[in-house]
Amino acid sequence: MAYLQWALFLLALMSCSSAPELYTTTAGAQNARAEPDSRPRRLEPLGEKQLQLLEHPERITGLLDDGAIAEDEIPNPHWQKNGCIACHATAEPVQPIKLREADPNRLCTNCHEQELVEAFIHPVGMAPPDDFMARMPDDFKNSLQEGDVSCITCHDLTIQCTQERFPERKINPLFFRGGPYQTRTKLCYNCHDPKMYERYNPHDQITDEGELITKQCFYCHNTYPDRHKVRSIDDVSFNLAEDLKKLCTGCHPWRPHPGGAWAGSKRGEGPDHLVVPPEKIRANMERLAERQHIILPLEPGTGRIFCATCHNPHERGVQYKPEADKGADGYKRLRRGAREICRNCHDL
Ligand code: HEC
Ligand code: HEC
Ligand code: HEC
Ligand code: HEC
Ligand code: HEC
Ligand code: HEC
Ligand code: HEC
Ligand code: HEC
Repeated sequence: MAYLQWALFLLALMSCSSAPELYTTTAGAQNARAEPDSRPRRLEPLGEKQLQLLEHPERITGLLDDGAIAEDEIPNPHWQKNGCIACHATAEPVQPIKLREADPNRLCTNCHEQELVEAFIHPVGMAPPDDFMARMPDDFKNSLQEGDVSCITCHDLTIQCTQERFPERKINPLFFRGGPYQTRTKLCYNCHDPKMYERYNPHDQITDEGELITKQCFYCHNTYPDRHKVRSIDDVSFNLAEDLKKLCTGCHPWRPHPGGAWAGSKRGEGPDHLVVPPEKIRANMERLAERQHIILPLEPGTGRIFCATCHNPHERGVQYKPEADKGADGYKRLRRGAREICRNCHDL
């Protein structure tokens, strides 16, 4: 990524910038990377060829350039009990440990070259200014290399080194130092000042004087919805042609669902709710929504449940239709209570 693109990307991550074009161009990429569940749940054990490659990680980029190996043949040494040799001088490291390279960034760039893996989320090699240092927890400070930020400042390799900690892959797949974090920005605030990056809030749609802030609508809609005419979701249009969860996931992560554990699921995990409801559930949804005077809209085109099926993204008063106004500004913006809403679909 060019520097400018990189900076824009990071700023969008941090502030969820209000510029819609910025938002739509980064949202996809951001999701592909951020969603831990897009990674394979199980790691394949390293094969013979991969173990051989790990003996000389410094040759990997050369082999790639020569076409001797393909990108997907770069061995993944993380969370592997026999992957240690990729970074350590010995196959079975003991204290005091000896790394292959004195400069940890060079350990990583054997495999993570900018062109190979889109890895350079953040620059390295700069010294945190004083106010950053004052904010930083000790283990961030101790991980600086000659005073500079390096790859291992944010990625704590010891998490993926220690077999007893391998199960943490489920909750902290990118082995963030001090992680897991509920949102990425919490990682950023170990160093950056949160006040500098107050989140832009697209749910703020009416001024204190009670006037509609029409420019806010364009954050999600591509034409201004005429509230007198619109009867349902089918009469409005969006900035995204498909996968409407992306209207939200740039600012709110979906996995783990920010609502936390679901009844009957382990902490942080949960059923995949973003699916086409089976006939029985659909019938429940329609019957109960009508009785309770709420709406439970499905994603146009696909008929899937999406974020706005359960959450109302609008400010109270934006919707003229009372059913569509329910949940706006209520508890977690839910169209019904956090427990009650389950029964709109499930026979509990
Ligand atoms: C991708 C690179 C990488 C891999 C793979 C890796 N390590 Fe490490 N390991 C490191 C780095 C870098 C450090 C130093 C971290 C630091 O100084 O903060 C480290 C530190 C350690 C430490 C010291 C931990 C501590 O608390 O001080 C041990 C022990 C260790 N590794 C063992 C292993 C074992 C065993 C494996 C294989 C199962 C392994 N490592 C795989 C990069 C790696
Ligand atoms: C021997 C090659 C190799 C080395 C050395 C290496 N990595 Fe990786 N790393 C990989 C591969 C392959 C993947 C998987 C990429 C993918 O799935 O797209 C990966 C994935 C990752 C991920 C994402 C985790 C995941 O499960 O997808 C992080 C974060 C990461 N590496 C950081 C580092 C850091 C920091 C270092 C240096 C201390 C390092 N890596 C050294 C090959 C390597
Ligand atoms: C300031 C913190 C920070 C530093 C320094 C940093 N990273 Fe990361 N890294 C992140 C964050 C945050 C993400 C997740 C980005 C996302 O969710 O889109 C990430 C993601 C990654 C991934 C996974 C990308 C993917 O597609 O799954 C890799 C690989 C990685 N970093 C490698 C590195 C390497 C190599 C370095 C050093 C050159 C480095 N990182 C330095 C914060 C950092
Ligand atoms: C370990 C500390 C650390 C962490 C964690 C960290 N940064 Fe930074 N970041 C820095 C330093 C140091 C600079 C250079 C700042 C300077 O020299 O003024 C920087 C610069 C930046 C810049 C360039 C613009 C600027 O403010 O100078 C952006 C954008 C940025 N970081 C975003 C992020 C994001 C997004 C995250 C979380 C994913 C993050 N940072 C996490 C240390 C950190
Ligand atoms: C954060 C994204 C977002 C913003 C900002 C937003 N909307 Fe929406 N809007 C949606 C979604 C998603 C739906 C479909 C779900 C629904 O019907 O409520 C929708 C549906 C609607 C509907 C149809 C409601 C129904 O089902 O009858 C109207 C009318 C509407 N929006 C008006 C507005 C107006 C006016 C604004 C600006 C003040 C606005 N929206 C801002 C995301 C947004
Ligand atoms: C640009 C960033 C941004 C986008 C995009 C966004 N939100 Fe939000 N959201 C916020 C902020 C900031 C808050 C906290 C302020 C508030 O509650 O009004 C919030 C609050 C919420 C809450 C309440 C959280 C709580 O703890 O009470 C829910 C639920 C929510 N948003 C759902 C959505 C849905 C659904 C969408 C997509 C249709 C969406 N958001 C799009 C920034 C965003
Ligand atoms: C099937 C219904 C359902 C769907 C679909 C759903 N949520 Fe939720 N969400 C909930 C419930 C219920 C809670 C409240 C949990 C609690 O606090 O008890 C919640 C909580 C939240 C919160 C509040 C976070 C906090 O800190 O408490 C946010 C933000 C949120 N959801 C965003 C989303 C986004 C983004 C999507 C789509 C990617 C989504 N939700 C899809 C039901 C749903
Ligand atoms: C809008 C409808 C809807 C709402 C609201 C809803 N669910 Fe679901 N839920 C579904 C659908 C659809 C599935 C997919 C399973 C299926 O196909 O039967 C599902 C699956 C599940 C599963 C996986 C088990 C199974 O039957 O496959 C659990 C557990 C679950 N939901 C719990 C909850 C809880 C707890 C709540 C309230 C916080 C809730 N659901 C709210 C529609 C909903």
